[in-house]
Amino acid sequence: EKQPIIVQGPMPIEAEKLAGHLEDVKEEKSGSFVFYKGKLEGYPVIVAKTGKGMENTAAATAVAIEKYDPAAIINQGTSGGHDPELNVFDIVLGERTVNLGSLKTGALNEGEGIEPKEWIPMDLMASEGSAGEDPDAENIRYFEGDEGLLAAAKAVKGKYEKGKVVEGTIGSADVWNNEVDRINWFHEKYGTSVEEMEGAAGAQIAAAYDVPFLGIRVLSNNKVNGGQYNPDTAKANQAYVLEVLKEYITTK
Ligand code: 5AD
Repeated sequence: EKQPIIVQGPMPIEAEKLAGHLEDVKEEKSGSFVFYKGKLEGYPVIVAKTGKGMENTAAATAVAIEKYDPAAIINQGTSGGHDPELNVFDIVLGERTVNLGSLKTGALNEGEGIEPKEWIPMDLMASEGSAGEDPDAENIRYFEGDEGLLAAAKAVKGKYEKGKVVEGTIGSADVWNNEVDRINWFHEKYGTSVEEMEGAAGAQIAAAYDVPFLGIRVLSNNKVNGGQYNPDTAKANQAYVLEVLKEYITTK
């Protein structure tokens, strides 16, 4: 039996359409995580409904790796634009993923206020010492998207007709940023194309186990250019991810 490919979706609308395309589906649960184990063109694929956010995603990733020993993991779903060139329905392939919630504040005394623009990126993987004291931890930690998965995704760009497909940087945190100046700060400092709440958590755990990982995110909204939220983007992204899967499988 071949090692399965896992496709993660946080919300029901981000997982169920995909699961519907599998054959011989068996549903399995671990905690609140639901795994739809099936086949795509005879190849084992598991769609994982993880729930939203970093904690759910990290746990669902670890459980899935321990349980199913996957060959690769795709994390997909909706996102909010940080790049004014990207529109609702465009798709970002996560060449890099980064945790936007991993920050150290400046050192201010009582009454000196709160200065978010002075906050410093913090790399929790920099050393085994205190991240608060270690100057090596004052860095942005990027997780690289897997080259094989990226190649498959690039090969089927032409099959997506609802927008463009670009390589970029996916930023994640349990935060929905609606302040344009804050979004611009991340865009400039971290090079983010989009934000969401899962990718970096999945990427970090996949890296811990050395499992190939790629984030694929459609813009469902873009605050920086006025792009209004459209939930239909979730379905469009899943149709594209299905093409990526088929392409990836043929190379395996
Ligand atoms: N900011 C943060 N998360 C977003 N999501 C879609 N758009 C955004 C955004 N602008 C996704 C997250 C999470 C859910 C709220 O939708 O990944 O799963």
